[in-house]
Amino acid sequence: MRVSVFGLGYVGSVSAAAFASDGHDVVGVDVNPDKVAAVNGGHSPIVEPGLEPLLAQVVADGRLRATVDTAAAVAQSEASLVCVGTPSRKNGSLDLTYLERVSEQIGAAFGTNRTITSSSYGALCCRARRTALSSRRSSAHPERNTAKDLASR
Ligand SMILES: NC(=O)c1ccc[n+]([C@@H]2O[C@H](COP(=O)([O-])OP(=O)(O)OC[C@H]3O[C@@H](n4cnc5c(N)ncnc54)[C@H](O)[C@@H]3O)[C@@H](O)[C@H]2O)c1
Repeated sequence: MRVSVFGLGYVGSVSAAAFASDGHDVVGVDVNPDKVAAVNGGHSPIVEPGLEPLLAQVVADGRLRATVDTAAAVAQSEASLVCVGTPSRKNGSLDLTYLERVSEQIGAAFGTNRTITSSSYGALCCRARRTALSSRRSSAHPERNTAKDLASR
């Protein structure tokens, strides 16, 4: 399967390498160009024992690449895994700014069917899905409104 992984932090970089190691075609996306460059160079963007050799192998095999280009990554994949940070605010609530933003970007970029899942718990996955669909419907592509949407956890 062709998979895009948004966020190359602790969850995303490990997930991207694991999917690629399982034979999937993976494109990782991050707003941080240093993390993108690290992955494309076969280096781990995080400190995680065992990740670097796995990353080096799947990048060398051509099964994992990284980019800062959200639209290109969406175009190159059928499913998207959202792994951006959801930090806690001082009042204990979750800051969903990054989740909302990346979901809007995915929603504006995808064409017909898309599976969207999240590394966070179910309610946040539903939030990402709703935001992506809302963004998609308000995009400048009315023909997309009639296409079947598929989103799941
Ligand atoms: N770390 C864990 O052990 C763990 C466990 C379970 C669930 N989670 C959840 O998984 C999610 C990710 O956690 P993490 O620890 O990997 O976060 P992290 O902070 O390590 O990584 C998040 C990455 O997302 C990137 N990012 C932000 N906005 C982006 C955008 N618009 N497009 C692409 N990339 C973007 C950041 O640059 C960063 O590299 C959080 O919701 C967290 O609660 C984490």
